[in-house]
Amino acid sequence: MPLLDIRGLRLNFETETGSLELFRSFNLTVERKEILGIVGESGSGKSTLAYAILRLLPANARILGGEIILDGQSLLELREDEIRKIRGKKLTMVFQDASTSLNPLFRVKDQMLAVIKENVGLEGSPARQHAVQLLKQVELPDAEGVMDSFPFELSGGMQQRVMLSMALSSNPKLIIADEPTSSVDSTIQEQILRLFRRLRAERDFSMILITHSVAVAQEVCDRLAVMYAGDIVEEGPAGRVMASPKHPYTEALIRSIPVPRSTRGRKEDLPVVWGQVPDLMNPPDPSAMLSLSKGVS
Ligand SMILES: Nc1ncnc2c1ncn2[C@@H]1O[C@H](COP(=O)(O)OP(=O)(O)OP(=O)(O)O)[C@@H](O)[C@H]1O
Ligand SMILES: [Mg+2]
Repeated sequence: MPLLDIRGLRLNFETETGSLELFRSFNLTVERKEILGIVGESGSGKSTLAYAILRLLPANARILGGEIILDGQSLLELREDEIRKIRGKKLTMVFQDASTSLNPLFRVKDQMLAVIKENVGLEGSPARQHAVQLLKQVELPDAEGVMDSFPFELSGGMQQRVMLSMALSSNPKLIIADEPTSSVDSTIQEQILRLFRRLRAERDFSMILITHSVAVAQEVCDRLAVMYAGDIVEEGPAGRVMASPKHPYTEALIRSIPVPRSTRGRKEDLPVVWGQVPDLMNPPDPSAMLSLSKGVS
């Protein structure tokens, strides 16, 4: 049985100009101890999927059907107080920009200890020890110094590690990371991706890694799912998808990964993914999306 099983999910947004149908019959599974990469361009529905799993959707979103089953539990059927017992514990999230997720007014220790109290039930010195251990696990050796800092005193990469340590604090089954490395530079990105791989090998969790970047997904994911206009247009083992993409949109995404000039041998323009994201108020026939490969919008 997969850890996460999404079946036939249907989701609309009610807007002033009408109903926007994002997920028509969305299916996805995440296996235990798997890192699943979700790639796709802006507006394809990656974050909405994360919020649907967490049951943190905006007020104008309507789930019209389908199931989201986490570890045998049907999340859409839970009451608000029941989902709160799962969110932050069995199911946690790392957001894109740690500097806006961490509260600038409180020291790291106050924020970590509050999370540990709420989600793990520890207080006082055991909670402190747990926090120090977590910070060491995310490769922040000066854990005491980090705990005493305000977020603005830490670099972007350190802040992101603090966020990750909080997401790990309750020993979750599933971590959803939405663009976790897009606000840090490429060296730090590389270190954080390596850290994900190391932690996954050491601990028992699965991860959904949401990213615009096929290159990032390829670095760290076991399997890739490519989203386009609220649908998964291709999925498979990361190596297979990268080596022989079956869908023209995936192929276009892979072609748009920058390659250093020295490797390519000569100066070339970076290929672009042609076309516009379809208007989801009037979604096109899925077969029309195939025209992407020919550069027709
Ligand atoms: N509250 C909302 N009301 C109406 N439409 C929304 C709302 N939230 C998202 N959408 C629409 O749903 C679609 C998917 O948005 P979403 O934010 O999930 O995309 P994304 O893949 O995460 O994009 P990005 O890569 O830019 O983060 C977009 O067309 C977006 O405009
Ligand atoms: Mg998003």
